[in-house]
Amino acid sequence: MSQTTSLVKSSIGQKLLMALTGLFLCTFLLEHLIGNLLLFINDGGVIYDAYGEFLSGNIVIRTVEIGLFLGFLAHIAYGTTLWLRNKRKRPTPYEQNNPSANSTLASRIAFVSGSIVFIFLVIHLKTFFTPLRFDATHPSAYRLVTDAFQSPWYVGFYLFALFLLGYHLRHGFQSAFQTLGWLQSRYKKLIMFFGFIFWFIIPLGYAIIPIYFLWSHMTGGY
Ligand code: HEM
Repeated sequence: MSQTTSLVKSSIGQKLLMALTGLFLCTFLLEHLIGNLLLFINDGGVIYDAYGEFLSGNIVIRTVEIGLFLGFLAHIAYGTTLWLRNKRKRPTPYEQNNPSANSTLASRIAFVSGSIVFIFLVIHLKTFFTPLRFDATHPSAYRLVTDAFQSPWYVGFYLFALFLLGYHLRHGFQSAFQTLGWLQSRYKKLIMFFGFIFWFIIPLGYAIIPIYFLWSHMTGGY
């Protein structure tokens, strides 16, 4: 077995890959939020749709997109493997009685929160990505978003998923830097600060979008 194969198969190698893919996905979250904030420009979606057209027509972005999907797949695959591996380990009686003494609630439910975010992602892609990329008769991206966020159920599901995404990142961001060995360094405060941006500010930024469009729909604002 080559050194690379044994690193990928080892627990520490998998944790490292989880950390790197997770941080890569965080950069997407930031870029995607900035793009989606264009929805708030009061021009009936002209700039937002132009931005969408630019994304789908740009060869560099399309290539990065493939990397993004592979990143998601790797993160999910390694997360599931690590979760199964930890589950198979027999806990000592002390650990069994005191799970909170060894890990935070966010870390213990990281697999569950990640799985629900994954379900959210499948529904999200089916609503927006699939029609925009594969259906020639699709409405504009702006129209798809504003139509989808007219349903209180859909918005409620988004808010629930975004809450879990925040919870997932609260553990995940810190854990990634712990794995990289940077949490004990002098950069700890900076890492905690960026962690807060990713687990609180970014999910909050996303949450404002469905709330705004549902509210506008209910009050006849657009
Ligand atoms: C709540 C606000 C959000 C809105 C309005 C929104 C809107 C969209 C739209 C319109 C697309 C299709 C873009 C295109 O193909 O041209 C898209 C794609 C995508 N969204 Fe979102 N999104 C939101 C939140 C999220 C969140 C929280 C995640 C991740 C957890 C996410 C992950 C993705 C991914 C992976 C794609 C496919 C890649 C891409 O097209 O860039 N989105 N989103």
